[in-house]
Amino acid sequence: MFTCNVLPGIHLRIFEDRDAGPLFAACDANREHLRRFLPWVGHTRSSADCAAFISTVLDQFANNLGFHAGIWSQDQIIGAAGMHPIDWPNSNVSLGYWIAEPWQGKGIITQCVKLLTSHCFATLGLQRVEIRCSTDNRRSQAVPERLGFRYEGTLRAAQKLPNGFTDIRVYSRLRTDES
Ligand SMILES: CC(C)(COP(=O)(O)OP(=O)(O)OC[C@H]1O[C@@H](n2cnc3c(N)ncnc32)[C@H](O)[C@@H]1OP(=O)(O)O)[C@@H](O)C(=O)NCCC(=O)NCCS
Repeated sequence: MFTCNVLPGIHLRIFEDRDAGPLFAACDANREHLRRFLPWVGHTRSSADCAAFISTVLDQFANNLGFHAGIWSQDQIIGAAGMHPIDWPNSNVSLGYWIAEPWQGKGIITQCVKLLTSHCFATLGLQRVEIRCSTDNRRSQAVPERLGFRYEGTLRAAQKLPNGFTDIRVYSRLRTDES
């Protein structure tokens, strides 16, 4: 199972079936913080919903399409970071992430995305890692910008969020950008 240290006391571990309860508790406690930019939060109403999500992402992992990991402080889940299903024919992947409100502002997500990006290039051999964020989500945009991803452009009205359609900023990093 993929697990790695992120910062002192903080680690990433790929989701397992037993995480459904703690994952739901973290989502539920952060519902207002998360729902504005993560449409799935509105559909996450019980730990059974989280169990279904974990089952889906474990299938994704078993099919060699990438993984989703919890971000843990000791035995408490404080966020998540992972890959949307890898596009192997085109050797690219898109990353996603969230962190509980009290844990914002500590650089945890930036470090997780840095580790995942290195994993995508060095271990998986992918060519391109992409991050997409709403034009209204300044904190999310700051993550790829901090890590030297290149801003490529904005997709108009590309995602429906609870407050309506939003434009999406696309960032990428290529394997050749690493050297
Ligand atoms: C988007 C989101 C994950 C960003 O979280 P974040 O805490 O701002 O990101 P990081 O964990 O990388 O922390 C960065 C902050 O820590 C600070 N920091 C402290 N130590 C740091 C370090 N060693 N390295 C980098 N940043 C550090 C940075 O200066 C920055 O602070 P600032 O925002 O006051 O400028 C969070 O706001 C969130 O979960 N939002 C809701 C869900 C969401 O929008 N998900 C993304 C959808 S695209």
